[in-house]
Amino acid sequence: MEKILDIITAKMQRAFADAGYDPSFGRVTVSNRPDLCEYQCNGALAAAKQYKCAPIQIARAVVEKLDANDYSLVEAVMPGFINLKLSGSFLQSYLEEMRTAVDFGVKKIGQGKTIVVDYGGANVAKPLHIGHLRPAIIGESLKRLYQFMGYIAIGDVHLGDWGLQMGLIIAELSERQPELPYFDDSFTGEYPTEAPFTVSDLEEIYPAASAKKADPAFSHKAHQATLELQQGRRGYRALWQHIMNVSVADLKKNYDNLDVHFEKWLGESDADPYIPAMVEDMKARGIAVQSEGAWVIPVAEPGDKKEMPPCILVKSDGSAIYATTDLATLVQRMQDWHPDKVLYVTDKRQNLHFEQVFRAARKAGIVPENVELEHVGFGTMNGSDGKPFKTRDGGVLRLEQLIADMTDFVRAKVVENKIVEDDEVEATTAKIAMAALKYGDLSNQPTKDYNFDMERFAAFEGNTGPYILYTIVRIKSILAKYGPWEHLPIQEPANPFAKDLMIAITKLGPTLENALASSAPNLICAYIYELAGAVNKFYHETRILGEEDKALQAGYIALIGLAKRCLEQCIDLLAFSAPEKM
Ligand code: ARG
Repeated sequence: MEKILDIITAKMQRAFADAGYDPSFGRVTVSNRPDLCEYQCNGALAAAKQYKCAPIQIARAVVEKLDANDYSLVEAVMPGFINLKLSGSFLQSYLEEMRTAVDFGVKKIGQGKTIVVDYGGANVAKPLHIGHLRPAIIGESLKRLYQFMGYIAIGDVHLGDWGLQMGLIIAELSERQPELPYFDDSFTGEYPTEAPFTVSDLEEIYPAASAKKADPAFSHKAHQATLELQQGRRGYRALWQHIMNVSVADLKKNYDNLDVHFEKWLGESDADPYIPAMVEDMKARGIAVQSEGAWVIPVAEPGDKKEMPPCILVKSDGSAIYATTDLATLVQRMQDWHPDKVLYVTDKRQNLHFEQVFRAARKAGIVPENVELEHVGFGTMNGSDGKPFKTRDGGVLRLEQLIADMTDFVRAKVVENKIVEDDEVEATTAKIAMAALKYGDLSNQPTKDYNFDMERFAAFEGNTGPYILYTIVRIKSILAKYGPWEHLPIQEPANPFAKDLMIAITKLGPTLENALASSAPNLICAYIYELAGAVNKFYHETRILGEEDKALQAGYIALIGLAKRCLEQCIDLLAFSAPEKM
């Protein structure tokens, strides 16, 4: 469907033309005086200069040519503004079209296009911690938005499964259990199918190994193990596979709990086979140059405002680094998926890394100009005191723990307020906790830091996830009492509150387009907050179930039914859902 602003702009342009003026003056904008009108056109003021006459004269002539049925108010005011308010019949037919169209008639701007969304960023053998919350939920939301807008969106977790942490674990294991066949070079048999450790073992082994990095002998051993793993040492590859199996199963479980789902579970290791040819090619074509024993790609450009160090491709010891795997991953993605866009969601502290990688990828021709590369660098989630989030003993809080804390907090409210039967407490609690957590995060502009405040996020009132759920549940309960409603057509607004609600609903399409264009799920949050407010206002000012005029009542029901569907669609894009009761 066309956006309302586009429709009335087109009509305004036709009116300018019909009145004998250049149609390009007919641009309509949302009113900056909502007390006077909903939309306005200031084109007559500009046109007056060209046609050398009074602006009001042009405005009046144009108003004459507009279709009065579209507006409840259409007037030319001094010195030459055109003020507009939409008519009930215009809104009625627009919303009825939204109601009956597929996906509310939202334009599928991504039809035929493919996007890779690289988010999550989990590292194998390290448990997810609170730093993994934002990439998971911002990434999942953006991916769902792209999918809704018609794109084929491939979410790829891009596991950190190839770096030093693997060498650290291997080195640590070789000290703890040197008798394992993985460390015996003369072993030629089949390695055990069972891993020599569990997830909880790994969770203890990795930090223990990491703490020993300062010990030069151990550090050397770990680096050596990393290199030998990458070069294909048989026993290390087998051990690596065990680490992967155990760790990935655990990561999947954790992401599932967050309702975050990846299409692809590829990692840095999957990029490895692409590295040798890519590096050779860059050396041969002079894209990469030698610098202090390393191979680097200069990426500075004349207009740069800040220092832009070269992108390191191969370190002096011959090893590949983070940027190398990211470039090789782009080779793989271009080859296998032919995306029109690749979007990365990581902490904004990686801004420079991605700038370097993107420039290097362009320079080397890995990614052609017509394929878009975007990095969404998000800010830090701090504690409620505004300081970096730490556990009581100063450690890093595990994501599981954060979710458990939020769940406990919400459960206490659910139980205390006797919201649902005992056997529904857990399911309802889980939904409210998810909404609190995700909306609390997503309602902030991604690039900004924000404070995690359990009490504020879980409040049932205010700009929160639970408030949105509460509004949906309220509508659901009215609809359930009314009976079948899905077939009821939208009617003209019966009161000003109905009209405000209708206008709020019409903003769905433009909101989703803006949210996509600016990678900003917070715009979806702002939309549903406004919509929920309009629903509640309408509910308070209008007798719905008690209305005796059945025809009028059917219109009310149709309207809140459509509002509910829009709200539910939006929270699905934010990856949470509403319970039946609250
Ligand atoms: N594993 C990385 C980290 O912990 C994040 C990966 C982000 N994606 C990428 N293609 N570099 O920082």
